[in-house]
Amino acid sequence: MKRVLVSGGCGFIGSHLVRRLLREHSDLHVVNIDLLTYAGRPENVADLADNPRYTFVHGDIASVEDVARAAEGCDGIINVAAESHVDRSIMGGDEFVTTNVFGTKRLLDYARTHELRYLQVSTDEVYGDVDPPHRSLEGDPLHGSSPYAASKAAGDLLVLSYARTFGLNASITRGSNTYGPYQFPEKLIPLFTTNAFDGKDLPLYGDGMQVREMLFVEDHCSAIDLVFFSGVAGEVYNVGAEHEVPNIETAHKIIELTGADPATLKRVADRPGHDRRYALDCSKLRGIGWDRTTDFDTGLALTVDWFRDNRPWWEAIKNGEAFADYSAKNYGTRS
Ligand SMILES: NC(=O)c1ccc[n+]([C@@H]2O[C@H](COP(=O)([O-])OP(=O)(O)OC[C@H]3O[C@@H](n4cnc5c(N)ncnc54)[C@H](O)[C@@H]3O)[C@@H](O)[C@H]2O)c1
Repeated sequence: MKRVLVSGGCGFIGSHLVRRLLREHSDLHVVNIDLLTYAGRPENVADLADNPRYTFVHGDIASVEDVARAAEGCDGIINVAAESHVDRSIMGGDEFVTTNVFGTKRLLDYARTHELRYLQVSTDEVYGDVDPPHRSLEGDPLHGSSPYAASKAAGDLLVLSYARTFGLNASITRGSNTYGPYQFPEKLIPLFTTNAFDGKDLPLYGDGMQVREMLFVEDHCSAIDLVFFSGVAGEVYNVGAEHEVPNIETAHKIIELTGADPATLKRVADRPGHDRRYALDCSKLRGIGWDRTTDFDTGLALTVDWFRDNRPWWEAIKNGEAFADYSAKNYGTRS
């Protein structure tokens, strides 16, 4: 493998992945195609601008021309790009289908006609919520609860269909809730952390007993790297922390780490259709040599420190009109 196309490399996970691939594979050239939506931040990869093994292409994965332009000469594609926020999908944006389904098809078509290795970065949300003590296995039925999860499930099914029908060398990773530096501050951990630094309320959905497996971004990226280079075609690999945390516990940890006033934690109306519990069985991924290296307490402390030290990064986002607009729509009617 000499040249790989990563989509969504200006987003949260994508920016960490691009940096990791360049660091861990000294002979690899990485091309990053990103549409620069509200979540795509060029500053997330500003440190790579002078790297001769890195190329940025401003483009849309749902465009045949943009994909062809970016993927020319590549040996593989890792599709990280997505509309990724559940609450925005509930607000009804068509872009969830355009990017997560149609964009996936565009990349698959290119990979098929040029016989490339393909990896789809997916999510545990495609399984829907699961009752304890079950942990989702890769062969479990897909029951995405939100339009976001449904669009990701549709993308996964397309990938598996291309592997079976056309013999495409494609695999899928399904990661659990991921957190770390550069995460867009609409998601729970960066939202609560930055609100805490500003003395604002921390709006907790419902009773806060929704259980998640919080995965540090570097661990998620090491799994993507491993599966892309060593995963079996046509196979799916769960990527989880195998450590369950209710959202309310995460909120309390953030309050402790930031020194926020516990009274700022405010219950608000729950998200419609909100899944109660995700849990993944990751034996298959462990079977090909993956292990998580960062436990939740360590990763969360690192993340809170990063947001403390990088106020200009998140202030530029949160002080913008688009963020205020989204916040008013999403939280305005909840309290
Ligand atoms: N964040 C999580 O907790 C999590 C967990 C599991 C899986 N995932 C998956 O990981 C991937 C990345 O998630 P994230 O949290 O980093 O997302 P993000 O929202 O931070 O970044 C998405 C990136 O994709 C780009 N993008 C969007 N539409 C595009 C298009 N049509 N063409 C090109 N680029 C486009 C955006 O500009 C942005 O840079 C997604 O596929 C998501 O489903 C995320």
